[in-house]
Formats: sequence, structure tokens, C-alpha cells
Amino acid sequence: MDQNQSQTPKLVRTAHLKEFKQAGRKFSCLTSYDHMTAGIFDEAGIDVLLVGDSAADNSLGYTSTLPVTVDEMISFGRAVASAAKRALVVIDMPFGSYETGPADALANAIKLMKTSGVAAVKLEGGERSEIQIKAIVDAGIPVMGHIGFTPQSVNALGGFRVQGRGEGAEQLLADAKAVEAAGAFAVVLEMVPAEIAAQVTAELSIPTIGIGAGPDTDGQILVWTDFAGLTSQKPRKFVKRYANIRETLFESAKQYSKDVNEGKFPTQDHSFEN
Ligand code: KIV
Repeated sequence: MDQNQSQTPKLVRTAHLKEFKQAGRKFSCLTSYDHMTAGIFDEAGIDVLLVGDSAADNSLGYTSTLPVTVDEMISFGRAVASAAKRALVVIDMPFGSYETGPADALANAIKLMKTSGVAAVKLEGGERSEIQIKAIVDAGIPVMGHIGFTPQSVNALGGFRVQGRGEGAEQLLADAKAVEAAGAFAVVLEMVPAEIAAQVTAELSIPTIGIGAGPDTDGQILVWTDFAGLTSQKPRKFVKRYANIRETLFESAKQYSKDVNEGKFPTQDHSFEN
């Protein structure tokens, strides 16, 4: 494959992420939950679209990622996968769909792959998820790992806390190596000190994808509602807001409501002739 083709592939596949790492070409990832925004992100050149279980709080109004089900994830997955022409589409395995063991993990991974049209699954946990990752990979399904702060374990971790600090660095490295040894094609590092993320990135042959993990990971991911400024909460330290969609929508809705109330919309321009 020539250099240009491997760095800007027409269709991003899991193997390309490793090529990007080897070439030092950083790659971009965003979460995505619906057809229209997925199409926009894909056209804009985002390399990976993650149908994250953050759809639970961002789209379904749950208070955490825990309640979202496999069937709900499938609907989000279909909407995104059918819009993506170039991006690699990865879907989260929701809480409860893999922790009970490799057989359940494999059955649910197969269900997600068969019905949503995505190219890979993601699941949380390092050493504790090693056998599940291996079972899924052995069945021919690409797996992305996710270590550091793992939102499905928010209750056990005592809230949204940076992971891998101090003595935690050793466990983080062990988790990263376990995910790699199990056959994952990439691993998300969430909310870990930049220095540790850089060390993990240097020690792994598979690409790392950071969210709150500093500038040295191979790829970066943000939750789309954060990056686009759709949420009303104060963004976390690691979020950069690239737009203020909330304000645009808010002002537009206010103006529309006012126009309707005052009889200014619709006008002749928006009406059919006989
Ligand atoms: O579901 C999600 O949004 C995620 C990202 C935080 C990586 O897993």
C-alpha cells in the first residue's frame, strides 16, 4: 500500500490504526449516536466513530451509562453505521453484556455485530476483561479495549476520578498489556495522567486512544455532545469545545417560537399556491 493510501484510506479498517501509529499519524475519533451527525462527522474526515454507551446519558436521559441495553445500543449502532462511508464504526458493549463471562460476552458481541452493521466492539476493563476480549477476538470480531477511568464502574471507582496516578500506574500498565495480549486492536485510555499515557503508548504495539490522557496517545476521542457544546454542564478539564451548538439551537428555537406567536412564520414564501 502506498504511503498516502495508508494514511488517508477510503475506508478506515482496524489495521489502518496500527499503520497510523507506526507512521506517527495521529487519528481522530468522536462518539456518535444518530444518522445525521454520524454522516457529518464521517464526511468531515473523523477516522473512528464510536457508538458509545454514553448514548445512555446523552441521548436517552439516563443518569449514567449503566442502564442502556444491548437492544438500545443496536438501534444507535444501525443509525451510525448506515451513515458512515469512510470511518471505522465501533460499538460499546453495554454494562451487563460481558462481565458474566466469555460465553455471554461472545453471544452479545455477535448479536451487536450481526444486527447493527458496525465493524468492531469495545468493552471496558483490563486484566479483568482479558478472557472476554480473547473469546470475542478468537471468533473473528475486532475488539477495542478501554482502561483507566471506566464509566461503567463509576460506582466502584468512587466517582469521576483520574486513574493510574502514583502506584496506580503499575496496574494501568498491566491492564494495557492484558488488553493487548488478549488481541485487542486498540485501547482507550480515559482520564489518566499524560505522562503515564505516554509510557503506555510507547510500550504497546497497538494504538492508544486518549480522552483526558494528554497529547501523546496515538489517537484522541471526545464525546460529540461535549466537543460541540450541546450539553449545559460545565465541560470537564479535558474537553475542548469546538462549537456552541446549544446556544445556536436555543436562540433558533426562541426565535421560531416568537415568529409563530407573532404570526411572522410562515409567510407566503413558505406556503403553497393553489
Ligand atoms: O461511551 C463513550 O462515550 C466512551 C468514551 C468516553 C470513550 O466510551
